[in-house]
Amino acid sequence: MKAWGSLDLVAALIQETARDAVLPRFRQLRSDEIEQKLAPDGKNDLVTVVDRDVEDRLTRALTALVPAMVIGEETSHGSPELLDLIHTDAPLWIVDPIDGTRNFAKGSDAFGIMVAWVVAGQAEAAWVLLPARQQMFMAQLGAGAFMNGRPVRVPPREAGTRLSGNAHTRYLAPPLSDRIARAVGDHFTVVPDLGCSAVEYTDVLQGRQDFTTYYRLLPWDHAAPALILTEAGGVVEHLDGQLYTARSPNQVTVVAGNREVSATVRSHLR
Ligand code: IPD
Ligand code: CA
Ligand code: CA
Repeated sequence: MKAWGSLDLVAALIQETARDAVLPRFRQLRSDEIEQKLAPDGKNDLVTVVDRDVEDRLTRALTALVPAMVIGEETSHGSPELLDLIHTDAPLWIVDPIDGTRNFAKGSDAFGIMVAWVVAGQAEAAWVLLPARQQMFMAQLGAGAFMNGRPVRVPPREAGTRLSGNAHTRYLAPPLSDRIARAVGDHFTVVPDLGCSAVEYTDVLQGRQDFTTYYRLLPWDHAAPALILTEAGGVVEHLDGQLYTARSPNQVTVVAGNREVSATVRSHLR
């Protein structure tokens, strides 16, 4: 067994949490169970009672399975210094209890639960569950990615078709935000921003869109889905071609189904 347990053991913990604490509350939240909060960069965000409950449950279950420090999105909100742990070499659990909180709160099924096991900035194992879609993605560094228990790869794309994707520019200031949005609009077919990195990365994995781009790189938004996508043959890299790691500081970052797509997107964004 690996230091972090096994893919199936952790997947079972996450699925149990979704069954007990997430799905019974889906489309059943009262308005007083949804609150405004400020994200680490001061942007307006939402949190629900379910985000907090799931983070508590997963923190207890994961550390009971394998003791390690936890960087959870909601705990880090009250204790921002937790984020600095990413720069230590200690093994870490990284938890996004509900990714796509806005979608979850309004009753859309585009939300996920994400967990990564990270050592010295490198994700070694990752899990992304889309509870309302009954899809579990997971990966182990060097051992491939799985969707609902079966190995999964990014499908080959049809030659000659226009690339589709989008740019997340909310956390970027002008003029860079305008330049990136314009470059994507000019060269590619723009698809809607789904407001959930769990869904966006796994859509790239399944060939539903060719790429997406981010700027803000909070580890709970990216560490898990980036390992799953790259283990399935995709690429997550910065504009200069450096590979994303869980320690990457905020910068324009391309999430693509393969190297060629990423190179094309980067050439238009630089
Ligand atoms: C959000 C989603 C979204 C991304 C935002 C995140 P949350 O996560 O991942 O795709 O664009 O930056 O905040 O807050 O719903 O966990
Ligand atoms: Ca998130
Ligand atoms: Ca979240």
